[in-house]
Amino acid sequence: MERWELIAPCHFGLEAVLKKEILDLGYEISKVEDGKVTFWGDAQAIADANIFLRTTERILLKVGEVKAETFEELFEKTRELPWERYIPKDGKFWVTKANSVKSKLFSPSDIQSIMKKAMVERLKSVYHMDWFPEDGESFPVRVAFMKDVAVIGIDTSGVSLHKRGYRQMTARAPITETLAAALLMLTPWKSDRILVDPFCGSGTFPIEAAMMAANMAPGRNRSFLSENWKHLIPRKCWYNAVEEADDILIRDCRTDIQGYDIDGAVLKAARSNARMAGVEQMIHFQEREIRDLSSSKSYGFLIMNPPYGERLEEKKALPQIYQQIGESFRRLDKWSMYVITSYEHAEREIGRKADKNRKIYNGMLKTYFYQFLGPKPPRRKMTEGER
Ligand SMILES: C[S@@+](CC[C@H](N)C(=O)[O-])C[C@H]1O[C@@H](n2cnc3c(N)ncnc32)[C@H](O)[C@@H]1O
Repeated sequence: MERWELIAPCHFGLEAVLKKEILDLGYEISKVEDGKVTFWGDAQAIADANIFLRTTERILLKVGEVKAETFEELFEKTRELPWERYIPKDGKFWVTKANSVKSKLFSPSDIQSIMKKAMVERLKSVYHMDWFPEDGESFPVRVAFMKDVAVIGIDTSGVSLHKRGYRQMTARAPITETLAAALLMLTPWKSDRILVDPFCGSGTFPIEAAMMAANMAPGRNRSFLSENWKHLIPRKCWYNAVEEADDILIRDCRTDIQGYDIDGAVLKAARSNARMAGVEQMIHFQEREIRDLSSSKSYGFLIMNPPYGERLEEKKALPQIYQQIGESFRRLDKWSMYVITSYEHAEREIGRKADKNRKIYNGMLKTYFYQFLGPKPPRRKMTEGER
């Protein structure tokens, strides 16, 4: 099978997590840059990456990388790219998204229209056609300029991969599924340890954790744009990936995952989302305020995305909420705590400096992922039978 370069964009700050996921899937990394990981793969890799990766937003098939400081240059270099390798005569093609950082060309609409014209010229000369019906499959192109170099790819995913299909109902300010999965992967949590999200909202952290515990492929229950590109990706590749997803699924996975929230209506949404995801039986949701958080268990994990003051009236309540987070955490025996927030006084109000802290961009919002590490549990002694 032909090998291509594939681009996987991710949240700024989480490239290492995505890189590890791609390596674990068995593919070779070609480049890691801010907000994206590029890797080598064939048609099977496109199906695998879409179905199994938890922390990328989409998978792009890289068409080329060109330096362009003027629109003439952009036109010429886009026309030189081998579009006919990917887009058939009846394909519908357009530049769906253009962004530009530190580059001379920065107007998205101009970049989009110039590139479309150049693609038309290229395909006209190769296919010897004057006009394209564009009534076949879709090939949306994405281009990202950085310091005058444009990386150009065709989107294989369609609807963004954070849309796993389970979150039909959301709370206010939900965290994306891809970000929740990546943050969970940054913790040493394993499915034999208790995990609690005391501000669970629509349930994203508990649901992603349950899916990870059950080895449930995030893309198993949705479709992808490139499933229709039969000239590039044989159906067999999708069947293989789905078959593997079914094989590795742990059907009777036991976990201790809890989601709490002050808002009963939001918990209804969380339960419904968990049901949609097929992990309802693995999570216990309960209406509970942060100040009432307690557990008789030791060595557990708290992971949370507390309110951060999106609305003015909420801002006033923040010191008290974060103080209550600190008090609840101190009551728990040997637990670890992970907090993602953009609230700048989080550590001060929690009353403890984080052991580790990582800057992560949630879209345009700068947030910090504070890690308060508890001790590791003692090694379990082997029983007579295990020796
Ligand atoms: C930023 S949202 C969390 C979103 C969630 N991670 C998701 O993906 O939907 C914060 C949540 O905290 C809840 N909340 C606010 N004050 C609370 C309190 N004192 N105790 C528990 N939950 C609270 C809100 O109802 C809201 O659902």
